[in-house]
Amino acid sequence: MDVWRIEREGYEPENATDNGNRFLIGNGNIGVRGTLEEYTANKLVAVNLAGIYDRAPGQTWREPINAPNPFFVQLEGQGAIIKHTQSLDIRHGLHHRETVYENAILTIERFCSMAEASILCQRISVQAKGKPITIITGIDSNVWDINGTHLVDYETELIDEVIKVSAITSELRIPITVSERCNHKENKIREIDNSVFRIFTTKENIVLDRIISINSELTSGTYDEKLKAHIEKWELLWSASEVKITGDKKAQLSLNYSIYHLHSIAPRHKDGLSIPARGLSGQTYKGAIFWDTEIFLMPFFTLTEPKMARRLMKYRINTLQGALDKAAYYGYQGAFYPWESQDGGLEGCTDFNVVDVFTNRPVRTHFRDLQIHISGDIVYALKKYIDWTNDDSILSDGGNKLIKASADFYLSRAFSRPGSDVLEFIDVIGPDEYHERVYNSAFTNRIAEYSLRQAGYDNKVRGYREIDGIIEQFDGYFDLEDVSLDTVRSRLVHPKEYWGTQGGVASTTQIIKQADVLALMQLFGDEFSDDKIKKNWEYYEPRTEHGSSLSACMYALGACRFGRADLAYPLFMKSARSDLDGGGKSWAGNIYIGGTHPAAAGGAYMIATQGFAGLHLKNGKPMLKPSLPEQFDSIEFPFIFANKNKTVSVTHKKAEIC
Ligand code: BGC
Repeated sequence: MDVWRIEREGYEPENATDNGNRFLIGNGNIGVRGTLEEYTANKLVAVNLAGIYDRAPGQTWREPINAPNPFFVQLEGQGAIIKHTQSLDIRHGLHHRETVYENAILTIERFCSMAEASILCQRISVQAKGKPITIITGIDSNVWDINGTHLVDYETELIDEVIKVSAITSELRIPITVSERCNHKENKIREIDNSVFRIFTTKENIVLDRIISINSELTSGTYDEKLKAHIEKWELLWSASEVKITGDKKAQLSLNYSIYHLHSIAPRHKDGLSIPARGLSGQTYKGAIFWDTEIFLMPFFTLTEPKMARRLMKYRINTLQGALDKAAYYGYQGAFYPWESQDGGLEGCTDFNVVDVFTNRPVRTHFRDLQIHISGDIVYALKKYIDWTNDDSILSDGGNKLIKASADFYLSRAFSRPGSDVLEFIDVIGPDEYHERVYNSAFTNRIAEYSLRQAGYDNKVRGYREIDGIIEQFDGYFDLEDVSLDTVRSRLVHPKEYWGTQGGVASTTQIIKQADVLALMQLFGDEFSDDKIKKNWEYYEPRTEHGSSLSACMYALGACRFGRADLAYPLFMKSARSDLDGGGKSWAGNIYIGGTHPAAAGGAYMIATQGFAGLHLKNGKPMLKPSLPEQFDSIEFPFIFANKNKTVSVTHKKAEIC
């Protein structure tokens, strides 16, 4: 098994959606779905641009922009398909397809340059078998837009051998331009429907090298030069982040794939950006930044690329105003961060985030106004970043303000009963989104208390209730109907029905969407004995749907804590292979939520490093508490602690950091 390559044989347009996620390439600025070159909008072709948001006409929210597709290629005269392979070199972010037709063989390589954030490259090779073949390649504007068309006022041009499509976004009038140069002179140019194509006709072999730029000047250099620089950059990234597993090639491939994704979506090119919950795989989830970044992605970047981690934290610091405005809007003080954060810290989440499948009417959801743990999650990530990097300069660079404002928010949001000075948080949503409007979510109370402490406040916060060592997820949770997951599932009337909110099948039961108490136990690991984690794991795991890709990793980390790598292993594979295997939950009611799952990829990294190798900080020092699965012989990886390069190596007999 090649642990650096994924591949699918056979031409399968019916799997275009999953393959689009599976074979995604990106460089943090641009993400290109892994769709085939001849595909158009109906196969979800997207060239997704980081950090550019706009409102499609008639919509109430903004979402990211998909640029016209410069990788479009179509043949004529090629005959029927005999054999087809699509593959991805995950070491170097190179997408390949090879299609053998009756009259020609088409091979295409493409990549988003890691060395130049605005540059994309494509090499098209056609081997003609004697019959004339027409190659149509160019910039195609017929791309996926999930909620309506974003680009207007198109212009197509051919200037000095460069073809160009420009347009502007409909709401904010942001210019978008795609330019391309090719190493061969075409026979004809065709400008049609806001697109521009070069047309070549050949009976011989031909190799077309295309250099493309988006929203910037085309830079000089040949395809081979660009490829070399791209590969060198990838090698650098791997040298700081590769996790080597021996004994289990499937696990190695899956983890390589997760890390590949994390690198492909990290915005290294520009300050002021973070990573959306669906990466750069399209407009799903409005291209917004969730707690996924702080809790599930930050550990990877903190350990392997502290500069990038700092930039992610700076995104929250720079968008503090949005959080202050949101708190003020609801009548609170301090900073209430957006649940779905877009540029400038604008809240992208609406009050009606689900559409009822039966009536097609919007359903009132409270993710936006009640998922208050978000501010504390950000404080938590900031603090962990400092613990691992020693970079406390971030505090004077806005971090202190963020911490103070988040604590002020919790103070003003808290409630206390008459005669008591204990703070409680009522009417909230914890990580488990199926139970809305709950009181005293254990996770929320703890993270709020943490946030208060970081700002120097010493108010007492109601913690959580426990019965026989099992933490109650929120007040009254144990009184809810205690039924199996299968029973709840059997009550569904419609396969896409939403399980949460008022009347959702899970809302009146103890069935939860994702790790909640177990997430609390992972974040505040020092406060819980291994035994207690085990007890809670055994209670909550069977009651968890794992309806979010954020869930498996928290349970896997819990299982490693109490020495059951065998329980953690399948959850690790589930996290790491989430976009490889595809088929995850793609609908919340009638709303499409598919795309790639960066938090699962970050979760896989956490399981490997913090779970299997057991890397953690104790009294400010990195330590190991391994729980290696029997499938692995060893695990080894570099990490950076306080500016020093370190290496962890763990076998079944020995564990060391050097
Ligand atoms: C999960 C949230 C998560 C969001 C984005 C939801 O399904 O419940 O916890 O932040 O997806 O990944």
